[in-house]
Amino acid sequence: MLFSSTLLILLGIAGVQADLKNKLAYPNGLHEKVDAGILEHTNPEQHNIKKWNNDLIPSGCKVRFTELGIDPKDTEVYNITYAHGCLQSWIFCRAKNSPVDIKTMASLFGRLPLHMRALVRHPISVPDDSCSALAYTDRGDILFKGNCKTPSVWIHETGHQMDAMLKPSDAESGSQAWKTALSKDSCVPDSYANVNAIEDFAQVTVIALFKVIRGFIPKPSDPGCFNNQLNRILDKYRAKYLIYGGICEGKVPPSRFVKKDAQDRLALEEEDRNKVVACGVKFADE
Ligand SMILES: *[C@@H]1O[C@H](CO)[C@@H](O)[C@H](O)[C@H]1NC(C)=O
Repeated sequence: MLFSSTLLILLGIAGVQADLKNKLAYPNGLHEKVDAGILEHTNPEQHNIKKWNNDLIPSGCKVRFTELGIDPKDTEVYNITYAHGCLQSWIFCRAKNSPVDIKTMASLFGRLPLHMRALVRHPISVPDDSCSALAYTDRGDILFKGNCKTPSVWIHETGHQMDAMLKPSDAESGSQAWKTALSKDSCVPDSYANVNAIEDFAQVTVIALFKVIRGFIPKPSDPGCFNNQLNRILDKYRAKYLIYGGICEGKVPPSRFVKKDAQDRLALEEEDRNKVVACGVKFADE
């Protein structure tokens, strides 16, 4: 199921809900159930932060900033190289006035398993009054607006990338297997999950990773009420994406480097083509 970016952002702001289920496993949201535990029981992968000192920017970041009305000249670009796994760095971008500094970004991303990180092209941060986030699922960018400093939000957006694998039209959340799992279950995790199958997949991913980290899930309102969704994700993704460690495989390469202040029509058009945004949901419990 694909939406235009505009439609999804409107849905997010208006809080319109499709209501997949009448029952929620965690009526107060995932934040209070998972974030403290994840912070306590993971360590950020060690990393090195290098700031770019030229007038270049990855074209993906440039387009994300430009469409949000942020001048690329007011942004910074960093190479983040993690100690294990991929020798290649991840290229992060942030607006200079974003409330989330680069250390926090690199550290939160470094709490994700290597193989989930490999699905992400550019982590991006921009200012806003409260935390909301987007995943550009046909190219691998994850974009955080506002003060998004909790692991669950970062896992959620990376979960969208795991769902789509750069091909949103074939996303797991749109599959018969996911529909079947949903139909067998009596609840979804929380109200974000209830928005649609795409958000549901991303929220169940947060719980699945919590289970890999802790060995159990936070106690739901009704035990087992979303087990088919949870087990589907664990069966399909646990070994390949949710387990920590491993070697660098299939890391999404960075986008082409362009000048911050010049037009590079080809690179920018490439970035705009067929864009699919998976999520415009506000994280109200931040
Ligand atoms: C960042 O990484 C890119 C390769 O992706 C490299 O070309 C560039 O020189 C690096 N910049 C810094 C400041 O380390």
